[in-house]
Amino acid sequence: MSVIYFDQAASSFPKPKAVSEAVAMAIDEYGANPGRGGHQLANKAASVIFETRAKIAKLFAENDANNVIFCQNTTHALNQAIKGFPLQKGDHIISTSYEHNSVRRPLEYLKTEKGIRVTYLQSDHNGYISREQLLNEISPETKLIVASHGSNLTGAIFPVEMIGSVCHEKGITFLVDAAQTAGVIPIDMEQMNIDMLAFPGHKGLLGPQGTGALIVKKTVQLDPIFHGGTGSHSEEIEQPKQRPNCYESGTLNTPGIAGLSAGIDEVLNKGINNIFQHEWNLTKYALEKLQNIDGVTVFGPDINVERLAVIPFVINGTDVQEVAMILDQHYGVALRAGLHCSPLAHETIGTIDGGTLRASFGIYNTYEEIEKWIDMIKEIKEGLVG
Ligand code: ALA
Repeated sequence: MSVIYFDQAASSFPKPKAVSEAVAMAIDEYGANPGRGGHQLANKAASVIFETRAKIAKLFAENDANNVIFCQNTTHALNQAIKGFPLQKGDHIISTSYEHNSVRRPLEYLKTEKGIRVTYLQSDHNGYISREQLLNEISPETKLIVASHGSNLTGAIFPVEMIGSVCHEKGITFLVDAAQTAGVIPIDMEQMNIDMLAFPGHKGLLGPQGTGALIVKKTVQLDPIFHGGTGSHSEEIEQPKQRPNCYESGTLNTPGIAGLSAGIDEVLNKGINNIFQHEWNLTKYALEKLQNIDGVTVFGPDINVERLAVIPFVINGTDVQEVAMILDQHYGVALRAGLHCSPLAHETIGTIDGGTLRASFGIYNTYEEIEKWIDMIKEIKEGLVG
């Protein structure tokens, strides 16, 4: 049975063929350690990594490729940004009420262990946060603002341009979690006043799992959260200061990064605006149909408000895990049910008890798949609650 894959917010699938080819080539043809030797194979691996770094820098309008730090995923990138940020007891961080645990847990750790004050700004269901609301929370102790660019639960898109301009005016560092938007919404770090950008390689950028990055503007100095071999300054006891090495201890994931490079090429070929438009068209189409099913509740932004291709919903009176299992086992539809590692966002939309189902679409999904899926939801609803 072929699978209808509606779990794109967790990891994009399928990947372009060029991605698996690039991964295989890195393993089969130049599987040496990048930056850890001067021989041809190590140099080839290092040059693929450098080219990918430069490609990523260009994609997000960062002018120095050495400010791109490769990480295993967005969570590692966010941990480096949040725990590595210079803070003192009594400092203040502002974030939002839609954050994933990859932001919330490091922030809660800083709160408990380091005496940092944390405020979660309430956004409305459309992703709206006002400038006044933000300004009201800022104090002289506010050193960092961390905001998701788009919710992994509701697809709401948050006003990062506005937050960035306030940060710029007030001299506050701005970190953006682009887990759901990198490769789907254009991001210009310069124009949006973003100081640090964390994102995965395996979602919108179509690369393999185990890839991600943090871009850190040169004006921000972080303490590395990992120490160890960097392939440089090996005679020194202390961690070297040079970027990117200082933040990239240990062997990098060359096959993954080679695959990510091919994934980014595919995104650039399709065009980020075209990708967003396709995903939004599918989302709107699915929302119209889903909202019309009696006994189904859909959450998130109003239908006329552009959102990411993510739809949380429940069939009233049913258990979300049971429905997800029926979709998987009986119909061959992959989607994610529960809390989606975002309990704060579920609290915000009122679904913390039980969670929701979540359908999320990507560039290769089709209207036909959505039509079939809507019929399945109707059938399941009839079967479970009549
Ligand atoms: N953060 C990913 C999701 O939303 C894994 O499913």
